Amino acid sequence: MKISRIEHLGIAVQSIDAVLPYFRDVLGLDVYKTEVVEDQKVKTAFLQVGAVKLELLEPTCPESTVQKFLDNGGRGIHHVAFKVEDGVSEALAMCDEKGIRLIDKAPRKGADGLHIAFLHPKSTCGILTELCEE
Ligand code: CO
Repeated sequence: MKISRIEHLGIAVQSIDAVLPYFRDVLGLDVYKTEVVEDQKVKTAFLQVGAVKLELLEPTCPESTVQKFLDNGGRGIHHVAFKVEDGVSEALAMCDEKGIRLIDKAPRKGADGLHIAFLHPKSTCGILTELCEE
């Protein structure tokens, strides 16, 4: 697999509106896009920090995995997303071959026009890992 950079950091929050004063007024970052991802039961807000994005994730219902993360005491960084240059499908096949537990067996549509797939944190040193491509 060829990773070119960190594409974004996913940050779990209970309320995007509640955390915006910090990101916007203290850090001086602007939200350039908000998007509801029905598939993942989250509302997202994207902020650009140089070449990397922050993806704020707000659960849209109690069944959201982000809500479960928050309910289990999780806060802040939820996942790290790597940009894969040689294809997410190929990367998944390679991970599968190496015994990495996959959350997604095939790439699916993520927020901000990306094709994404998640690797299970049990296989990735506890870091929920997203692989993505444009
Ligand atoms: Co993400």
